[in-house]
Amino acid sequence: MMTPELTDDVEQFRSFLDRSPTPYHAVKEAARRLAAAGFTELLEENAWNLESAGTYFLKRGGSLVAFRLGYGDPWAAGVRVAAAHTDSPALKLKLDGETVSHGLLTMPVEVYGGAIVSTWLDRSLGIAGRVSVFDGRTVSQRLFSTDGPIATVPNLAIHLNRTINEGFEYNKQTHLPVLLDCAQEGEQNGKLRRFVAERLEVAEDAVLDADLLLFDAEPARLLGLGAQLLSSGRIDNLAAASATVRALCRAGTTESTALAVLYNHEEVGSRTSEGADSGLLRSIIERIVIAKGGGREELHRTLARSFLISNDAAHAVHPSYADKHDPSYAPHLNGGPVLKYNGNLRYSTTAETAAYFRNLCRAAGVPVQSFVNRSDIQSGSTVGPMAAAGAELRAVDVGIPILAMHSIREVCGVTDHSAMGRALELFFGASGAAS
Ligand code: CO
Repeated sequence: MMTPELTDDVEQFRSFLDRSPTPYHAVKEAARRLAAAGFTELLEENAWNLESAGTYFLKRGGSLVAFRLGYGDPWAAGVRVAAAHTDSPALKLKLDGETVSHGLLTMPVEVYGGAIVSTWLDRSLGIAGRVSVFDGRTVSQRLFSTDGPIATVPNLAIHLNRTINEGFEYNKQTHLPVLLDCAQEGEQNGKLRRFVAERLEVAEDAVLDADLLLFDAEPARLLGLGAQLLSSGRIDNLAAASATVRALCRAGTTESTALAVLYNHEEVGSRTSEGADSGLLRSIIERIVIAKGGGREELHRTLARSFLISNDAAHAVHPSYADKHDPSYAPHLNGGPVLKYNGNLRYSTTAETAAYFRNLCRAAGVPVQSFVNRSDIQSGSTVGPMAAAGAELRAVDVGIPILAMHSIREVCGVTDHSAMGRALELFFGASGAAS
């Protein structure tokens, strides 16, 4: 049976997933929760007058930073940073490619990030993203979502592709166009653009451009005879993003400043102005130091006393493919958060920073597991090493174990998600420099 605390965590997690079909929607949902908890929105282009122990957030595209200022000066008490990412692999619409043929309206897609492409076929897909709308004077960014399903990418019948079960490579240009509607030859094109304009209640020619992604319209579902598993799209990495926001809202104010950064563009390498390989984290810490009356010396002292927990999905051992894990580093679902190591520092974890996280979890009453790739399999990476290098912070890479990473639907354990949230809440709510 679930405790009331676990039930509450799971419900918050599920609603975060369902309301966040794209990074832009994840930022909106995170901002909504922070605002409800009393956080004030800042704009990067304005001057900041920050109150002691104040709580703030700011958006940069599909990224968000939120912080709870400590009572103390950050150069004395440090900044406790937790990072996650808002984006997930997906199919992205090529808006100008609308095509009518054989009575159907289709649109080609690009594959964003390292998606398991075959999992996107034969699903009920929604369309969501960000639309640039021109009102005659200025361009604004509007969020768009069909909410429910509206499109699909159909497979070819097995009778016409008899060897599909022996392995089939989908051609990303010719096999993945998404089916949007029935249509007559010669029909005027721009049907999706008109549809978007109507939904946003603007003129068709006001829609100048759009970043539109397909998403699995099936909501997050609890699975398992004991309802201990959760199946959803985008668990990597909205599990971490939602746990981080929840922990920051719940944590009390102490001497230290607590800061959450949710990055866009992790799945495509992070090298953008809002990704983890940008100056975003360092510039926000610098502005906090300046707002507190510090200068460059105080900035460097702050960074030296600060600590980063980078939180992204880990590979749970798959019982049908258990030999893909080093047997000594095979985390299982609902076995607790995972410390992620890599000898070549594709993860930022060191013996020093791992020890900090182990002690944190012990204090939170949370079990810890470890992951290192088999030595003959190349490691993945995440925001940790880039964010740590860019802001010059000690850092650890952790995450909850999941199955089917980068499938359109992934699976995780509900107690792992809740446990990670508790560890982060303790991290944010603790006092003094992390050590
Ligand atoms: Co990830």
